[in-house]
Amino acid sequence: MLGPSGCGKTTLLRMIAGFNTIDGGYIKFDNEIINEIPAYKRNIGMVFQNYAIFPHLTVKENVEYGLKLRKISKTESEKRVEEILKTVKMYDYKDRLPDKLSGGQQQRVALARAIVIRPNVLLMDEPLSNLDAKLRIEMRSVIRDIQKHIGITTVYVTHDQEEALAISDRIAVMKEGLFNRLVHLVKYIKGLQIHSLQPLLVVQI
Ligand SMILES: Nc1ncnc2c1ncn2[C@@H]1O[C@H](COP(=O)(O)OP(=O)(O)OP(=O)(O)O)[C@@H](O)[C@H]1O
Ligand SMILES: [Mg+2]
Repeated sequence: MLGPSGCGKTTLLRMIAGFNTIDGGYIKFDNEIINEIPAYKRNIGMVFQNYAIFPHLTVKENVEYGLKLRKISKTESEKRVEEILKTVKMYDYKDRLPDKLSGGQQQRVALARAIVIRPNVLLMDEPLSNLDAKLRIEMRSVIRDIQKHIGITTVYVTHDQEEALAISDRIAVMKEGLFNRLVHLVKYIKGLQIHSLQPLLVVQI
């Protein structure tokens, strides 16, 4: 989801997650309308604009937090946490507190924490906005690889066009609360071909 500051990207993500109420229309997961389903029952993983990991918990504790809430067994939880920390290459840092991690490392913890609960949908709100240019580019491929590997439907918000092109299969362009363009990306080994389509989805906020 691509669009300028203030156009409503975060608001829409919060509606999908269940943190904002929906005044009109509906949101469906598969064929189920989810408007009335409370946030905690939607099984959504969210990575925020700032990483929002708990400062007083270690890397491992941050990641296992959502599993504890969901009453996942200790054995299963240990297994999942180890697996995801290895995937985001943070296993060696599992006992560190967040203030002893770099921005990119904190970002990966936030990502691991969102994914470990095996969400139905992963929402990412400008997750790379606090990183330097080099790390941003590196993290783009980390995120894309993880997303492809795990295969979760992901809505990724950015106002950086280049980042949108690099990371997505489809781009919805938002302006003043409306999607006015949905762009399907077809990536070939050599180069990039872009099809611009008529709007398939219009959301009014
Ligand atoms: N709680 C709120 N109450 C009233 N207006 C709000 C609230 N939160 C956001 N807004 C307004 O709604 C509009 C959309 O905000 P939103 O946070 O969705 O923008 P955004 O596209 O995520 O922008 P950015 O790229 O800067 O994060 C803005 O004009 C904002 O000022
Ligand atoms: Mg925002």
